[in-house]
Amino acid sequence: MAREATADVGLIGLAVMGQNLALNLADHGYRVAVFNRTTEVMKHFVATEKPPGGLVGCETVQELVASLARPRKVILLVKAGPAVDEVTKELIEAGMEPDDIVVDCGNSLWTDTIRREKEYAGRCKFFGSGVSGGEVGARFGPSLMPGGDPDSWKHLEPIWKAIAAKVDEKTGRPIESYAPGKPVVGGVPCTTYLGPNGAGHYVKMVHNGIEYIDMQLIAEAYTLLTNLLGMKPPELSEVFDRWNDGDLDSYLIQITRDIFAQHDPVHQEGYLVDYVLDAAGQKGTGKWTSVNALDMGIPASSIAEAVFARCMSALKEERVVASKHLDGPRRAHDERRDELVAAIRDALYCSKICAYAQGFELMREGEKEYGWSFDFAAIAGIFRGGCIIRARFLQKIMEAYSRDNGLVNLLLDPYFGDQIQKGQRSWRKVVALAATTGIAAPAFMSALAYYDGYRSERLPANLLQAQRDYFGAHTYERTDAPRGTFFHLDWTAPGRPQVEIRRP
Ligand code: 6PG
Repeated sequence: MAREATADVGLIGLAVMGQNLALNLADHGYRVAVFNRTTEVMKHFVATEKPPGGLVGCETVQELVASLARPRKVILLVKAGPAVDEVTKELIEAGMEPDDIVVDCGNSLWTDTIRREKEYAGRCKFFGSGVSGGEVGARFGPSLMPGGDPDSWKHLEPIWKAIAAKVDEKTGRPIESYAPGKPVVGGVPCTTYLGPNGAGHYVKMVHNGIEYIDMQLIAEAYTLLTNLLGMKPPELSEVFDRWNDGDLDSYLIQITRDIFAQHDPVHQEGYLVDYVLDAAGQKGTGKWTSVNALDMGIPASSIAEAVFARCMSALKEERVVASKHLDGPRRAHDERRDELVAAIRDALYCSKICAYAQGFELMREGEKEYGWSFDFAAIAGIFRGGCIIRARFLQKIMEAYSRDNGLVNLLLDPYFGDQIQKGQRSWRKVVALAATTGIAAPAFMSALAYYDGYRSERLPANLLQAQRDYFGAHTYERTDAPRGTFFHLDWTAPGRPQVEIRRP
């Protein structure tokens, strides 16, 4: 049966994220054609949900393509990887035309998006968009990070702006509504065009790298509060509730507060968090961020540390054995309770600033490497609502980059420099205490090392260069010669003169 081409947008992949994004679109009046590999899932979805814009159930990809108004716009919410190519090829075979748009909304590797845009050019416009905010975000307003062909963006922009999370224009605080069929009216949408090809997926990847370190820092604050002060979940919940009322105000602090308040649903007493096994999983976006930082030579050390912290946690059985063999110090200290809680808060905040400094520095290098041109204030702006790292202090990051889009590092912004200045005594105290009491706090420590490294006019890398030259004639530059002039000394031959090495 021939389909009338009346649907505004198509969506493939009806797992929870796909279903929720389809409902979000339809809540904003868009008629959404939906397809899922398992037809029963699609049928059940269409039979159960009756959102305002309407859903058009499609049993085949051909039906979906036939039901779309031109230029066709099809959103993919399928597993990142080969499935994206498989579905795109199916769509092309089913009749997509050169100006029709396929939008990959999964957590795809940005280089795949760059490759796909080229590979499918002339057959369809392949577009990438990061989507952050989990299931609830997809349903009621995610942060959307689009990148791809600018002409295709013109067709997507109104849709993206409609379904994205909204923040208040003046305060930058999220405006939220969790009522189906009653989306937020007004506000600034948390989406902006980020650049061509893989720019959107790149920014989403860095968002996830920041998400990893944000979460790890919170986890370290938890272990310090627990191990140094003996705090139990109800008290931890109160502490996080207080912390949420200030610079640390963020989605991740809020959910942490709520997690600590959750009783165990299995046992009569106790809290669920105490029963959750301490072995963290990961799907790879934090690792991609770290690998990219290593590839580009950017010291995003705390982001990488957060990935390694998950790797360490996953060695559960080994750790259990090691805990019986390897000694550490006693966890004794003479800090006052309220002072230590405040110091841990400061350590968390200062480390968080360093984490964002690393993430934004990485994006600055990424834009050079891939020929993009990021508006960093706009990126901070779309992180203010909808996404997992949404936080009050993103307004401050936005303001910092609005003052100077060329800001080399967030730490050099006067506001953030001042914040670190205020918190660094406590931060150092907490890191020292973690070391002397034997509590693993790798992200706090790494962030502090990043800060101290970054503010060091002179690092001991002179010795590294001397060593490299000693054993491998790798040459060195001199403090008393212009940069880019290289020398070598035969360190084992006394009296041999230093030679200048001309590089081609
Ligand atoms: C988001 C999240 C999401 C991510 C999960 C799981 O922005 O909504 O980043 O995209 O998939 O957080 O990531 P890990 O399994 O790697 O922790």
